[in-house]
Amino acid sequence: MSVYNYLLTQEGFVHKDDLTYPFEERGLQFGDGIYEVIRVYEGKYYLIKEHVDRLFRSAEAVKIKVPFTKDELYNRLDELITKNDIQTDAKVYLQITRGSAPRDHAFPTGTQANLYAYAQDLSRKTEQMKTGVKAVSKADVRWEWCYIKSLNLLPNVMAKQEASEAGCFEAILHKDGEVTECSSSNIYLVKNGDIYTHPPKKNILHGCVRMRIEQFCKEEGISFIEESFQLEDIQYADELFLSSSTAEVMPVIEVDGIKVGDSHPGRITRRMQEKYEMDAGVKGTIFAK
Ligand code: PDD
Repeated sequence: MSVYNYLLTQEGFVHKDDLTYPFEERGLQFGDGIYEVIRVYEGKYYLIKEHVDRLFRSAEAVKIKVPFTKDELYNRLDELITKNDIQTDAKVYLQITRGSAPRDHAFPTGTQANLYAYAQDLSRKTEQMKTGVKAVSKADVRWEWCYIKSLNLLPNVMAKQEASEAGCFEAILHKDGEVTECSSSNIYLVKNGDIYTHPPKKNILHGCVRMRIEQFCKEEGISFIEESFQLEDIQYADELFLSSSTAEVMPVIEVDGIKVGDSHPGRITRRMQEKYEMDAGVKGTIFAK
């Protein structure tokens, strides 16, 4: 996965080798910052408005001043694509921290936020989207404000690592058996043709792809029920799938070693994958023979 040369910062574009930060940087020392991961298909952003809106919501929630207006940010993000001449499938990582200042828990005064954004090639996970992936379940030990896309990702990192060590794609997180989301994606259970997912409360990230899935369901006349389900409901589910900007719509065919449904991507999941491909305007399709 190659990183493109030019990064956007609050002061303009810099070459990736020239980016320097002091060691007293609040993102590094406190995880005092927020971020977004935005998908790019053939050099074009997908769901950019949703991501920028969420970035501003996160910033407001943690009282960080974004160094650009929304319009300025759209323009700069477009420049990031043109300056790097990106024509492939990629992702853009953007983070904003409270800035650089002598270490003290309380907010520093007169400190500017640090922003950087860079692009990296990212091809679609087509094989996994066709066959489905395995997951493990883990206790959700995160804080209560997971709707903020904060840099504090240690519980997510630990859960994903445990999934990875178990040969799995994701960790499904639960609070006393109630499924919230995954370490880096939202999750949905299908039963009798209806889709169930955790309501958009403060304890989950309100995914941009999740918003599109809700819309796809409206268009298809499928019930999108914002009710949480239990870990034990998974054994009776017809289908299970997850969503994120990097995993798109991903079928989950096994959880904790137990098969889900008939252990193949199900009809509703496939329909959501089809709708996603159409909505994102991707060139290839995972449905080609
Ligand atoms: N993760 N839930 C969590 C905890 C996430 O970290 C993500 C995204 C999502 C899905 O959100 P969206 O549909 O907006 O991508 C849900 C990104 C991809 C990441 O941290 O890399």
